[in-house]
Amino acid sequence: MQVFIVLPLALTTAFLYARTRWKSMRMIDRYSFKVKLMIKLGIAHLLHMTGLSQILRVRYLYPIYYTASNGYKTLLSNTGMAAVYEEALKFKIRDDDVFIATYSKSGTTWMQQIVWLICNNADTNVAEDKPLSSRIPFLEAVDMTDNVLLGIQTLEKWQKNKQSLGPKTEKLIKTHLPYGLLPEDIQSGNKCKIIYVARNAKDVCVSFYFFHVMNMLLPHPGTWSEFLKNYSSGNIMFGSWFPHVLTYWEKFQTDKERIYFTTYEAMKKDMKKEIVAVANFLGKKLTNEQIDIIFNLCTFDSMSKDKSTNYSHGKNLGMNFKKSKFMRKGEVGDWKNYFTVNENAAFDELYAEKIKDSGLDIPFEL
Ligand code: A3P
Repeated sequence: MQVFIVLPLALTTAFLYARTRWKSMRMIDRYSFKVKLMIKLGIAHLLHMTGLSQILRVRYLYPIYYTASNGYKTLLSNTGMAAVYEEALKFKIRDDDVFIATYSKSGTTWMQQIVWLICNNADTNVAEDKPLSSRIPFLEAVDMTDNVLLGIQTLEKWQKNKQSLGPKTEKLIKTHLPYGLLPEDIQSGNKCKIIYVARNAKDVCVSFYFFHVMNMLLPHPGTWSEFLKNYSSGNIMFGSWFPHVLTYWEKFQTDKERIYFTTYEAMKKDMKKEIVAVANFLGKKLTNEQIDIIFNLCTFDSMSKDKSTNYSHGKNLGMNFKKSKFMRKGEVGDWKNYFTVNENAAFDELYAEKIKDSGLDIPFEL
């Protein structure tokens, strides 16, 4: 009986894999990317349901390395991402664009909600009505079913028509891209604004692990120890945490007008202070009442219950909340529940080596 499930699945996976490898030699168009994503989601569901993804660890066996047209080397979670990365590089930005940039799982959603509310006079009606992912497009994504996720297609339309869903002037854009893959316009010094949120590397790893467990569109993470190994060596989607954070940190040192760099831990420690700092950075004036409204809407408790921020629409994006929630714990120091003593010692050594002389100091506990 099992052979009737396993064999066709294995053959389909092998066929699709061979086809995507071949296709990656050429540029694929974004529509076939979308179709491929849907096929991948279907297969991923089947693999997860039958438990095969765990047994076969299929998707991390084949990391796909990619050199972008500007020479930046990266690792793809899906060959179709190459086309999206290239489009992102060419994306024309405007001076009043605002990017919320992070390494995945660093508090992106949290900062998105804060920035959106700051730029929209703490307007709770629209905020509660539309999922955050459809209020702030994701640069390196394609538009998905029923606009639950807006990507570069929408952004291009907005740039042309000078429109957006929220703020009257600026456009808010989410990205996980490393600095070297940001639109060439930005890299050549265009004056848009970038808000970067970093989170301590150990909590990111734990949060990223559970995100891989619950998100069918991502490679299966394997065991915790296997995942930590891949994460430590940068053999993972978005590449290594270190150059991602350190490059934005370096740029911030010399360009404080354009880049605001903060941490998840600073937001945890004093969210109101961060709300005011971000508003000042964006040149926005908030009343005390607005600050209170934003604060109350942006606590972990509130965002976990709010269906516009808790990704309850996420099953359309491959998320399975039975495995783990998007709003999982929202704590600093949860890594202590997962790193063994030896893993922690090895990671500390790697961390000290990579971070030395950078002046970056992100606390691992509060
Ligand atoms: P955990 O998995 O540790 O709970 P991102 O938005 O970049 O994907 O980050 C997701 C992480 O931020 C998750 O971490 C999530 O719980 C946490 N998070 C989201 N909103 C938060 C909030 N308002 N306060 C604290 N943590 C929040």
